[in-house]
Amino acid sequence: MEDILISLDNCSSLEELEQIKVQILGKKGYLTSEFAKLKDLEGDEKKQRAEILNKLRDEFNDKFTQKQKYLKDEFIKAKAKKDAFNFAYFDERSNSGALHPVMSTMDKIIDYFLRQNFSLEEGPLIEDDFHNFEALNLPKSHPARDMQDTFYFIDKLLLRTQTSPVQIRTMKQQNPPIRMIAPGAVFRRDFDITHTPMFHQIEMLVVEDGDKISFANLKYVLEEFLRYMFGDVKVRFRPSFFPFTEPSAEVDISCVFCGGCGCRICKQTGFIEVMGCGMVHPNVFKNVGYKNVSGYAFGLGVERFAMLLHKIPDLRSLFEGDLRLLEQFK
Ligand code: DAH
Repeated sequence: MEDILISLDNCSSLEELEQIKVQILGKKGYLTSEFAKLKDLEGDEKKQRAEILNKLRDEFNDKFTQKQKYLKDEFIKAKAKKDAFNFAYFDERSNSGALHPVMSTMDKIIDYFLRQNFSLEEGPLIEDDFHNFEALNLPKSHPARDMQDTFYFIDKLLLRTQTSPVQIRTMKQQNPPIRMIAPGAVFRRDFDITHTPMFHQIEMLVVEDGDKISFANLKYVLEEFLRYMFGDVKVRFRPSFFPFTEPSAEVDISCVFCGGCGCRICKQTGFIEVMGCGMVHPNVFKNVGYKNVSGYAFGLGVERFAMLLHKIPDLRSLFEGDLRLLEQFK
């Protein structure tokens, strides 16, 4: 037993410590068998032996716990030392960071509108059915809900499929005139070469009292904006459908890859679609309690803008976190 207590002192690993415990307190361990022998003794002798054994066991347990704590601490310290980040790796050749092209594109767009006195609005990523669909003139079972495959939670909550719900939240809190943009992440159950389940949109909304605002205003604002973003491009409006705008249009710019001559990326059409827009639908105004107002709105995908601005051919490269992509944007 003395030997064992000494070996506890000398033991240098948690595995070794466990082995010692088995030798003492395991099924065939020293103390276990000594305790078993008590049944052959009687009277005072038995009592004295039991006292000694109990004392030995307590002594062993104390020492064991102490040693165990010490070894565990040492183990953690050694592991921390091994895993610690080695700052020596950062020598002068190391790369500094760069803003991700999606974020710098977002900043560029936000900056453009802030300079024109637009307000910057935000909404929650987890939305309810009312703000994401119903108030935007998408009643339950409306077929247009299929345009956006939705991630639902229980209890009617969902991951917002668009930034348009921020229009609703803003109009419910403020009175016209409204000039707002709302940037942020949106989510759809979609994953292939040209779709990712999370991407970013920027929403824009202008509302004025009366019927001051027309589609011509929207056209002018968008043409100016798109030329600011892409330089000397042609801008084309195509009639389209969105439940929350009437009339609605999709906006194309001449293809930035081929200059409008026709290539694989624009599918030989010479144009690339960049956003949806339209005059705010009267039902949307009704749903937020606005009367006698007019307005227009647009929604654009930031990833698409970033790809067109930087001529990035594959959407997936924006999400791979490959430093070699970022290094090109320093
Ligand atoms: N929310 C639409 C979408 O995600 C985009 C959009 C289209 C927004 C037209 C608008 C708009 O504000 O007027 O597909």
